[in-house]
Amino acid sequence: MPRPIQATIHTAALRHNLDRMRRAAPDAKVWAVVKANAYGHGIERVFDGLRGADGFALLDLAEAQRVRALGWRGPVLLLEGVFEARDLELCSRLGLWHTVHCDEQIDMLATHKTHVPHRVFLKLNSGMNRLGFTPQRLRAAWTRLAALPQVDEISFVTHFSDADTADGIDAQLAVFNEATRDLPGERSLSNSAASLRHGGDAAVRADWIRPGIAVYGSSPDHPQHDIAHWDLRPTMTLATRIIAVQHLQRGDTVGYGSSFVAPGPLRIGVAACGYADGYPRHCGTGTPVLVQGVRTRLVGRVSMDMIAVDLSPAPQAGFGSEVTLWGRAANGAVLPIDEPAQSAGTLGYELMCALAQRVPVSVDR
Ligand SMILES: Cc1ncc(COP(=O)(O)O)c(C=O)c1O
Repeated sequence: MPRPIQATIHTAALRHNLDRMRRAAPDAKVWAVVKANAYGHGIERVFDGLRGADGFALLDLAEAQRVRALGWRGPVLLLEGVFEARDLELCSRLGLWHTVHCDEQIDMLATHKTHVPHRVFLKLNSGMNRLGFTPQRLRAAWTRLAALPQVDEISFVTHFSDADTADGIDAQLAVFNEATRDLPGERSLSNSAASLRHGGDAAVRADWIRPGIAVYGSSPDHPQHDIAHWDLRPTMTLATRIIAVQHLQRGDTVGYGSSFVAPGPLRIGVAACGYADGYPRHCGTGTPVLVQGVRTRLVGRVSMDMIAVDLSPAPQAGFGSEVTLWGRAANGAVLPIDEPAQSAGTLGYELMCALAQRVPVSVDR
């Protein structure tokens, strides 16, 4: 009998969320961002739910090969472009579109021998100062690319640093519009937060949006807005079972460090999930969990393989009862991944990407 922990990927929810992002930007094409192994879900596991996208955006060449191996013949975009010259051979062979964000990548293209000219996305650094040409240097890069026989189409891309906050995107959008004003080519600007919060503006939607986190059922601007507000559904459930029950008396403590002290008589369940499964050790007492689909709280410290949960709100629960760490319980109750993430001082992104190898994953189709 394996440990009872299990992750489930929800294909219908992926489809729903992708559709939701289309509604946010109805006239734009949609890159489903599947980098980091589809945000920890597994590229092969999400493919069916996301095959309605117009393209897949990612950054690892091995992941691009996996998308092609699934039979996807449509656009695949390398969000960071190539890392060394021989990566261009794979771009030619697999028909990958690639970002060009620096002069070194143009140098590599200029010496690349190919019969198939490439489509490239020229990246503007509009203020995030991670990747891209400055506005002053963009035109020179475009002119160099336009003169290369290895290139047949040039599009434009930039990335917003503050689309999820009140600082917003206006300043970067103005920089982008000014820098690309009279240059021909398709444009792609918006991640999940920009698409949902600013998708009403056609300039923000542009030709392609690039949602990642929203497709995976996590709110890009939690806690300001939750997934119910954005009509998104969890695409990953992490669930386990209670493997022991303890009856505490006032003053009894729970787990390492005795950080939780029972204020009175208390039934707790010990559940088979710990930080070695990807559940954050920083989740403290009070972190929400569902027991038999009923909301309750974690008590004490997260250990490597176990956590303890307060069974007061679920008096029927006992050995073998379902515990949902995030996602959807059997009774349909939802615990957004954003909530335990917030308790741990992080984001849904990190929790889904950190699901541990030892957790068995199934796909519900
Ligand atoms: C260039 C680029 N585009 C799009 C995305 C998707 O962003 P999000 O998951 O916030 O929608 C990312 C993710 O970090 C990115 O780096």
